[in-house]
Amino acid sequence: MNYIEKIRNILQDRFTETPKANVVTFGCAQNENDSEKIRGLLSHIGYSITDSIESSDMVVYNTCAIRENAELKIFGNIGKLKALKAANPNMIVAVCGCMVMQQHIVDKIKKSYPFVDIVFGVNNLEVLPQLMCDRYTQDKKQILSPIDKTDIVEDFPILRSGKSKASISIMFGCDNFCSYCIVPYVRGRERSRKPQDIMAEFRQLIADGYKDITLLGQNVNSYGKNLEEKIDFADLLQMLCTVPGEYVIHFMSSHPKDINKKVIDVIRDNPQISRQIHLPVQAGNDRVLKEMNRRYTIGQYMDIINYARQQIEDVSFSSDIIVGFPGETYEEYLDTEKLVKDVRFTQLFTYIYSPRTGTKAADMEDNISYKEKTVWLNRLIKIQQNIVFEHLNSYIGKTVTALVEEKYEDGSYTARLSNTFVVKFNSDSDFTDQFVKLKITGKKGTSLTAELLK
Ligand code: 5AD
Ligand code: SF4
Repeated sequence: MNYIEKIRNILQDRFTETPKANVVTFGCAQNENDSEKIRGLLSHIGYSITDSIESSDMVVYNTCAIRENAELKIFGNIGKLKALKAANPNMIVAVCGCMVMQQHIVDKIKKSYPFVDIVFGVNNLEVLPQLMCDRYTQDKKQILSPIDKTDIVEDFPILRSGKSKASISIMFGCDNFCSYCIVPYVRGRERSRKPQDIMAEFRQLIADGYKDITLLGQNVNSYGKNLEEKIDFADLLQMLCTVPGEYVIHFMSSHPKDINKKVIDVIRDNPQISRQIHLPVQAGNDRVLKEMNRRYTIGQYMDIINYARQQIEDVSFSSDIIVGFPGETYEEYLDTEKLVKDVRFTQLFTYIYSPRTGTKAADMEDNISYKEKTVWLNRLIKIQQNIVFEHLNSYIGKTVTALVEEKYEDGSYTARLSNTFVVKFNSDSDFTDQFVKLKITGKKGTSLTAELLK
């Protein structure tokens, strides 16, 4: 709070108009949530938040490290700031997030991007006011090396981007060490927020009119493990569902080794919870899964899918898949195709394996060319497209509930089903950010078309 007061005074001396800040997010929903906190903090300090980098006095790049192409894209974007900063010497450039939790990246920024003023990691967003103060008063760059910090700061001011959709981080970090994944190295050890804090944030969101809430964590199914009180993810879900109101709860990501029947039963018993479960499978072959250190077999994966199908009417699944893990053969890749055809996911996020420095898989032998992996990826995408078309077709004639997202000039609207399918419809009244009942009449491209019932 001291630093916030100090930085306010500095800004008053330096700027005649309200200074502007721009926070750019790369990567996942967790990063989006962190960016909302950074915007909250900057807005609390006195910045007006803008989408324009050109007119900003403070630019924050919240970065991602999950794949190499994310990092390359971010470096390209940071490079472009050099000219903007030359045009506006008052501009502060800050880089935070997962990418700068790797020392070799911090070193590269120091060496090759000298116009970057501030670098700070993912687990200590609250240091930003101090770093800004020191940057201004000492006229010295503030480049923090990655630190291992595990306490959780509550009561962050948060400036939400959506009016009906919001996310809540329920836990941070990951202890799973899947052999391809950088997350446990950059986000640190797993720790959960207290249920009372999550409940208070959830209640506030519902009271503020939010209708679509996503609970976030790298592995939500291990929620509660480090807490003193005995609580697991199923208990937390059940607790949240006692809050009255019209809303839908999503959660991501689940780990197939940790999701259990108790969680499925809670979903079954609470219609507020989305009927689409995100359950990243990563590969369809047991040997590859073992090498990935996923700690489940396809048999176990199918057991939980089948249990959910027995228990929950209209349940569907989305997933993440990596093709071309080191040592994966063509035959093993075909097992992934088979799995995709068997489960018939409603949504699939597919990636080509990207080696990440410091992970176990980065040292494994990899004999398949990137070109061949691209062929596999494209085949999988094609298979999945057909599956999605079939899913879309199966909706025609059905009545659904959807949350209205956007209004267009021609009087048409788009709404989203809880499984993320988009529905287009016309209406004379504006139902933006509200739930509507729709009768699905057809399919257009990758969306559904509908008539408004209520
Ligand atoms: N290469 C490619 N994809 C990866 N993912 C995580 N690490 C890598 C990597 N090194 C994918 C996984 C994960 C999703 C968020 O990103 O599928 O579930
Ligand atoms: Fe990465 Fe595995 Fe943790 Fe997910 S569960 S964040 S893939 S290590």
